[in-house]
Amino acid sequence: MRYEIITIFPDIFHAYFSESIMKRAIGKGLIEVKVHDLRDYTSDRHRTVDDYPYGGGPGMVMKVEPFCRAIETIKADALETCTIMLTPRGRPFDQETAVALSEEKRRLLFLCGRYEAIDERVREMHVDQEISIGDYVLTGGELPALVIIDAIVRLLPGVLGDEHSVEEESFSWGILDYPHFTRPPEYGGLKVPDILLSGNHREIARWRRREALRNTLRARPDLLKKVPLSGEDDRLLSEIKEEEENESGQRS
Ligand code: ADE
Repeated sequence: MRYEIITIFPDIFHAYFSESIMKRAIGKGLIEVKVHDLRDYTSDRHRTVDDYPYGGGPGMVMKVEPFCRAIETIKADALETCTIMLTPRGRPFDQETAVALSEEKRRLLFLCGRYEAIDERVREMHVDQEISIGDYVLTGGELPALVIIDAIVRLLPGVLGDEHSVEEESFSWGILDYPHFTRPPEYGGLKVPDILLSGNHREIARWRRREALRNTLRARPDLLKKVPLSGEDDRLLSEIKEEEENESGQRS
């Protein structure tokens, strides 16, 4: 997979790509990353990338020419490209989009804006997808680009040591994760649930599914309406609701 990024802060990316899983994925040749400094595509002495908005209003707008020059220079190698603009007005990013992008054959080109916005003509001329990482406004597209690349790269075969970890985790089930424990078996008076020490894999799987459903019911009940639930899931959810009602009854 090849990723290209256009930004006025290339060092943010260099820092992230020189650590941990990303560093190893690059080292193994599983991904290739090129970071382009938008200012290298300006033509004035001050390397200007922004200007006042037509029509007035607060903030500055990123100029059309540097972005278009950068994009056109990158695309000149004729590799097929999917150009992604990071913006709060884009489609919300989720695990399904991460999977789709991890299967994308085209190179991904991320456009990171700063200030109020990027001149609309950049979108009209070059952008295939606009993506938001959530309903809040950040100071720029750099963190969203890193979030998206991180979520994609860990899905690529060979990137994570243990292939099971991607299939087993939260969200690949469509619900939240179950609780995890490691040694010691007791800490600060809190014990690891006995079932996890039992070696009974069927019961452990059932416990994990129940606790994953419990976490989802507490924090993201909306997800339970979207995923297909089995008869066993419905039984587990009834058990959980009963338990929670008893607990809240005991508290009051
Ligand atoms: N740029 C600023 N805020 C953003 C967000 N929430 N998602 C994507 N890009 C952004």
